[in-house]
Amino acid sequence: MGSVLVSWGTALPEKVVTNHDLASYLDTSDQWVTERTGIRERRIGGSTASLSVEASQRALERVGLAGSDIDLIVLSTTTADQMVPGTSADVSAQLGTRGGAMDINAACAGFVYALVVANGMLGPNTPRALVIGADTLSRITDWDDRSTAVLFADGAGAVVLEYREGPGNLLGWDLGVDGSARRFLYCDHGSTLKMEGREVFRKAVRAVVDSCEKVLSSAGLKASDIALCVPHQANIRIIEAANERLGIPMERTAVVLDRTGNTSSGSVPLALADAADAGRINEGDLVLMCGFGAGMTWSSAILRWGS
Ligand code: UT7
Repeated sequence: MGSVLVSWGTALPEKVVTNHDLASYLDTSDQWVTERTGIRERRIGGSTASLSVEASQRALERVGLAGSDIDLIVLSTTTADQMVPGTSADVSAQLGTRGGAMDINAACAGFVYALVVANGMLGPNTPRALVIGADTLSRITDWDDRSTAVLFADGAGAVVLEYREGPGNLLGWDLGVDGSARRFLYCDHGSTLKMEGREVFRKAVRAVVDSCEKVLSSAGLKASDIALCVPHQANIRIIEAANERLGIPMERTAVVLDRTGNTSSGSVPLALADAADAGRINEGDLVLMCGFGAGMTWSSAILRWGS
């Protein structure tokens, strides 16, 4: 048994906030943010549910499906709209889906976690799942803290997975967590994100490289077999450093962070959809997705594109 990714959709808030906008009140500059992160602008606004619904509707419409054709929602988010119920319950109600719906919180590594969970749950009685990565980090960002305000933003991406007889297209995955690294990136109830950026940077590169090497080896593949790498969109320097160690050129890498900033769970599906919409992924291509985030969590997965 296995699953095939049959559609995708995204949602970004309308409001654009540029580095110049932030530099108008923070002790920062467009040059610093662009050079140190690769981010030029980001989108702010909406709720996690509203962005999830918009991205999901686009994914459903692309392939002529309705909410009632969906048997499962797995929603990755670190910014649920409320403590209870899960944001996935609101999304399910608005889309009219059947079956179960659950939230998953594995921070910025969460979308791949959600993909792996949904893949494992699909079967003859649960043939179709919506996997959503959505976050509204602007709601837990301290807009007066230049070390985090220039990074975080809002956005969502969704994919439709369908059950197929046979091994499916998710060829391998690796999930991990090191809870002892909690202090480097966290947000307590009622507070804002606190981060030791330099330490997160160092650990992120190591975690991404180790995880990708593990998943490549478990699938019997080499980096040169990967047609497109879709990394978590946190910092272009993290992506470049990890790619260099893995031997994956930037030409074979999806990057949207210049336009989106770090949208946590939204980041991998936003980058995946951007590449797919641009015709950068062909039938049969191998796509390597990877993420890292607070926890510290990390995740990677290899997907064969197409049916
Ligand atoms: O999804 C996972 C979430 N987090 C991440 O992935 C973050 C990972 N870390 C990073 O992306 C980078 O560490 C940052 C972008 C956060 C910071 O870049 P850096 O090159 O590691 O800078 P730094 O922390 O070493 O700071 C260098 C200098 C410091 O000044 P001094 O001590 O050298 O005088 C900072 O105070 O840059 C200063 N600085 C800034 N200057 C202008 C920090 N933030 C800013 C800013 N504008 N926004």
